[in-house]
Amino acid sequence: METVLVLDFGAQYSQLIARRVRECRVYSELVPHDAPIDEIRARNPRGIILSGGPASVYEDGAPGINPEIFDLGVPVLGICYGMQVMAQALGGTVARTGKSEFGKTELSVLREVVLLDDLPATQSCWMSHRDSVTEPPSGFQVTGATASSPVAVMENTERGLYGIQCHPEVVHTPYGADVLKNFLFEACDCSPTWTVVSIIEETEAAIREQVRDQKVICGLSGGVDSSTAALLVYRAIGENLTCIFVDHGLLRKNEAEQVIDAFRNHFHVPLVHVEAQERFLTRLAGVADPEMKRKIIGEEFIRVFEEEARKLEGAHFLVQGTLYSDVIESGTRDAARIKSHHNVGGLPVDMDLELVEPLRNIFKDEVRNVAAELGLPDNMVWRQPFPGPGLAIRIIGEVTEERLEILREADFVLQEEVRRAGLYRDLWQSFCVLPAIRSVGVMGDERTYAYPIVIRAVTSEDAMTADWARLPYDLLETVSSRIINEVTGVNRVALDISSKPPSTIEWE
Ligand code: XMP
Repeated sequence: METVLVLDFGAQYSQLIARRVRECRVYSELVPHDAPIDEIRARNPRGIILSGGPASVYEDGAPGINPEIFDLGVPVLGICYGMQVMAQALGGTVARTGKSEFGKTELSVLREVVLLDDLPATQSCWMSHRDSVTEPPSGFQVTGATASSPVAVMENTERGLYGIQCHPEVVHTPYGADVLKNFLFEACDCSPTWTVVSIIEETEAAIREQVRDQKVICGLSGGVDSSTAALLVYRAIGENLTCIFVDHGLLRKNEAEQVIDAFRNHFHVPLVHVEAQERFLTRLAGVADPEMKRKIIGEEFIRVFEEEARKLEGAHFLVQGTLYSDVIESGTRDAARIKSHHNVGGLPVDMDLELVEPLRNIFKDEVRNVAAELGLPDNMVWRQPFPGPGLAIRIIGEVTEERLEILREADFVLQEEVRRAGLYRDLWQSFCVLPAIRSVGVMGDERTYAYPIVIRAVTSEDAMTADWARLPYDLLETVSSRIINEVTGVNRVALDISSKPPSTIEWE
């Protein structure tokens, strides 16, 4: 597989570079800037990109580069700090000119060589830097400039070395994708062959090689990650996979049926459906403390899963839906451990099972493309994230059968209306919360004393931060009126208008 490695110098945009390269259908991975040269050589990359970074090359402890990178015979593109570190290593001059550039800047093409080939003579680009290359290393020609950066683009075609001061990976650089394509297809001679189909084929081959003819189990939640991981493994090894779907009774309306229908009836994947509603609710009885609820659910989930796994004697492998962003965020080394807590509700690390992680190299949007290609129904492909502890952490106070039913019905109305308004995919999450208070209302001529429902809808990129969604008033009106009329036990609807931080997305 043709691979382009992105050496990460710590920029907030490093991940984005790998994603943009993948959007050009070339496989790309992020590696630490100080990855040993032998490791880099062993990966046999078609090209190397040096990312930007927050440091100045003159700072103590600024991340440096092993100059052997430039002698690998592999084209290298330095972006922002990556360009500066390249210039410095090869004998050019980097200076603190006092002319920093932040934001949109006009870039002029001086020569169309490789990077700026076929681009307009002037164009807007996104800059974010203080230091500048003032003198390129010998052998480089200057091919682009801005008012404050006379050496904004430099190229040495003979050695296949390129530098650009602005950020081609961000959307504010409209011709950024063309710059990357010029590097990938002209300088590196890559071919755009990394497609969803090739991801599926390569992943299946890797699973077969890892697992061979041994038994594998997979905790299926119904979320897009675990579902896609399960389908990939099923395609690779067939009946040697058994999925375990634990219904803890804290799912949304019709959710269990959808998952079972898709996996058992449509894909014919061996599936154990554990109906554990009663045992979860019994353990949650009388518990109002959020952390206590989470602990109980996590523990109980492990118990159920272990019991079922034991029944499937001889299983050696456990499927996990770990994504590439999890791998990057956890600094690559202990990602599997971190995700085992998150994904399958806190499985113990000392479980005697080896992990199979078919999504380890792909991003969330790529997972969705794979899921669609594998035929997962749309409502599962595009499902908004749903927390492992389910509705329990959206019911403030005690979780009872009656309160679950209220929340489930209200949530169903909200989902239906959000979808009808065409907003489901624009929202990171949209759901209802049931607080532990009641208020007075009047219905017909009767006084009511019932629960309110709180609508929570947020937009977000990654759930680390989130903004409350500006839902249209018409939609809010319909949802409010339907919930109050259709859901017994509710007489008021409120809207949560808090962002994260300082609030969190979930209420508990
Ligand atoms: P918060 O509430 O911390 O949530 O802003 C951030 C994101 O994480 C989801 N979430 C969970 N997901 N198990 C999960 O798999 C959990 O225990 C859990 N708790 C919160 C939440 O829905 C949001 O997308």
